[in-house]
Amino acid sequence: MKIGIIGYGYWGPNLVRNFSGIGSCTITKVADPRKERLAFLAKNYPSIDGVMMADDIIKDPAIDAVVIATPVFTHFGIAYEALKMGKHVLIEKPMTSTTDQAKQLIELAEKNDKVLMVDHTFLYTGAVQKIKELIDSGEIGNINYFDSTRINLGLFQPDINVLWDLAPHDISILNYLYNEKPYSVQATGTCHTGNGIENIAFITVNYESGFIAHFNCSWSSPVKIRMMLIGGDEKMIVFNDLEPTEKIKIYDTGYKYMTDEEQYSIRVDYRSGDVHIPKINMKEALSGMASDFINAINNKTTPVSDFNSGLEVIRILEASQVSIKDKGREVIIKS
Ligand SMILES: NC(=O)c1ccc[n+]([C@@H]2O[C@H](COP(=O)([O-])OP(=O)(O)OC[C@H]3O[C@@H](n4cnc5c(N)ncnc54)[C@H](O)[C@@H]3O)[C@@H](O)[C@H]2O)c1
Repeated sequence: MKIGIIGYGYWGPNLVRNFSGIGSCTITKVADPRKERLAFLAKNYPSIDGVMMADDIIKDPAIDAVVIATPVFTHFGIAYEALKMGKHVLIEKPMTSTTDQAKQLIELAEKNDKVLMVDHTFLYTGAVQKIKELIDSGEIGNINYFDSTRINLGLFQPDINVLWDLAPHDISILNYLYNEKPYSVQATGTCHTGNGIENIAFITVNYESGFIAHFNCSWSSPVKIRMMLIGGDEKMIVFNDLEPTEKIKIYDTGYKYMTDEEQYSIRVDYRSGDVHIPKINMKEALSGMASDFINAINNKTTPVSDFNSGLEVIRILEASQVSIKDKGREVIIKS
C-alpha cells in the first residue's frame, strides 16, 4: 500500500516515523509548501519524494491512502478532494471545523467505500486502554463524573482557540470510555491577546442521567498538568499522564448516603481504602493508531478512532464555541 502524508510541520514527522515502521505500507510522498520542511524531510528520509502541493499526492493514481497533518481549517478541503479521488483518508484531530463538514466527509467516504479515520492518539495509549478495561469490567462501578485538566504554557495557535487545540484529546477519551450521548454544554473562556481566540476555556458537558464531564484547557498556566479524574460509585481513577510509568492509580474510595426523613438531612458515609497501580502497556500510541488505519484498509475493520469518534468530538466543540460566545449559555447538543 502506498501512502502520502500532507503537512510536515510539528506533527507530520511523528506520522512519517510511525508509518515508516509498518512493513505493509510505504510512504512515497510527503507534501508541504515550506521548502525548509522538505529539506528536513530529504535529510531524514531521502527515499521519500518531497512535494510542495497537496494535489501532487491527492491526484497521484499510485497512492492508495492520504494522511492529513495540516492546520485544522484546511482539513475539510484536502480530505474532501482526497476522498473524491478514491483515497482512504486519515485526518489529524480535530477532524474538521464544523459538524456539517464532518458529516459531508462521512457521507462521501461511505459512498466511495473508503476508510475515513481521525487521529485521536490518546485512544491508543496503554493508559486509556487500561482505563477502558477497568470500566468495562465493572470494577469501578457506575461512572458518575469525568474531570479533566490539560494546562500548560502552551503554543498560542493563530487559527484555533485552546479548546479546539487541546480538548479533542480529552473529549475523544470521554466518548470512548462513556457511551451515553451528551445532552448539553456550558462553556466559558477568555482571550488575553485581543485577537478573539480564547487561550483559557472551561467546558461542562451535561447528560440526562446526571453524569457530568468537565474540561479545563489553558495555554496560560505556569505549570503543566495532564490529569483526569474518573469517579465511579465503587472506585475512582486518577490518570496523571505526566507520571513516567505509574500513570493510573485506582482508589478504593467511595461514599454512600442516606436521607434522614425526619430531619430532612443527608448522612454521608465515606470509605477510603487501598490505592492500586496497574501495569500498563508503554508502546507508542501513534504506532498503534497507524496500524489501526492500515488494518482498517486491508481487513475492512472498524478503527477505534473512526469517523463517528471524529464527528462526536466536533459536536461538543462546536456547541461549546456557541456557548462561549454567548457567555456560558447552556447549548443543547444536536444529533
Ligand atoms: N494527535 C496529536 O497528538 C497532535 C499533536 C499535535 C498536532 N496535531 C494536529 O496535527 C495537525 C497539524 O498540527 P501541527 O502542530 O503539525 O501544525 P504545524 O503548523 O506545525 O504544521 C502544519 C504543516 O502543514 C503545512 N501545510 C499547510 N497547508 C498545507 C497544504 N495545503 N498542503 C500541504 N501542507 C500544508 C504547513 O506548511 C506546516 O508545515 C493539526 O490538526 C493538529 O491539531 C495532533
